[in-house]
Amino acid sequence: MRVLVTGGCGFIGSHFVKRLVAAGEDVAVLDKLTYSGNRANLEGVEHAFFHGDIADRAAVSQAGEGCEAVVNFAAETHVDRSILEAGEFIRTDVVGTHVLLEWARATGARFVQVSTDEVYGDVAPGVSSREEDPLRPSSPYAASKAGGDLHVLAYVRTYGVEAAITRGSNTYGPFQYPEKVVPLFITNALDGDSLPVYGDGLQTRDWLHVEDHCAAVELVLREGAPGEIYNVGAGHELANIDVTRRIVELTGADPSLVRHVADRPGHDRRYSLDCAKIGALGWRPERTFEDGLADTVAWYRDRRDWWEPLKAGEYREYYRRQYAQRLR
Ligand code: TYD
Repeated sequence: MRVLVTGGCGFIGSHFVKRLVAAGEDVAVLDKLTYSGNRANLEGVEHAFFHGDIADRAAVSQAGEGCEAVVNFAAETHVDRSILEAGEFIRTDVVGTHVLLEWARATGARFVQVSTDEVYGDVAPGVSSREEDPLRPSSPYAASKAGGDLHVLAYVRTYGVEAAITRGSNTYGPFQYPEKVVPLFITNALDGDSLPVYGDGLQTRDWLHVEDHCAAVELVLREGAPGEIYNVGAGHELANIDVTRRIVELTGADPSLVRHVADRPGHDRRYSLDCAKIGALGWRPERTFEDGLADTVAWYRDRRDWWEPLKAGEYREYYRRQYAQRLR
């Protein structure tokens, strides 16, 4: 099968491309190569590459030539950036999804929309979101992903597009751009820089290893039913401050690097997913957070050649905007 993977040079997308290629599939990658997309993530991996934007119809039809399915990883994904400037999130996550849906409608290709648990908004202790729960996005990022998801469901109902949605929880692992909390704190700890914990650090997230996440998306690509949504979470729920402490231990950093700083506006306290539906398809997470985090720290320790160049350039300006005031 030939599959179009959008955002295939990003963090989760590049792991997914490697996985499909290893399974013997033919892969076309469409990637805009924004700050978080990196050709180096696919070094040595056999694929056809198209540089372009999912919101550009011509780019989508060129990259999609001969593909019988598309898996949409292309997205602006960082909540903090969406709080600074939301326009690109709407363009890529909503308009881009619409353009891909139009292409799938015209060609009959199957569609997997890779979404997020953040569309549900935060949930009370003891509660887990189910796929049919209402969407209550808190950030411009989450609202953009929710908009994309709703268009996917509308295209299933109105035009019969064969699309399914996965909603993954917080994902970590090698090749993650160092702005999300796990790679940011690992690389800062390795460099002896501050670890800026937002607010009290008692917000909780469910930590999913990138390989487990990709296994779930692959299963939905092969066996998911049109119009269905599948939650994907590992059930490794931890407070941010506990994740931070583990990173300090694993890197051997000085615990005084941990700084509580001004909270993120609209910060969701807790996400949790009920994953019975994907469980019924046969998916189970295989990695514990303990092992996965230790391996991830080891990877960042070994691969300064990968992340040091990323922390120069545009990143510095972003870091200053996001943290200079907080860390003063
Ligand atoms: P993040 O990795 O940005 O993912 P998301 O917002 O999609 O959950 O953040 C994960 C958690 O870590 C979230 O509760 C915010 C918190 N966080 C910090 O405390 N400090 C930071 O510098 C960052 C980037 C995140």
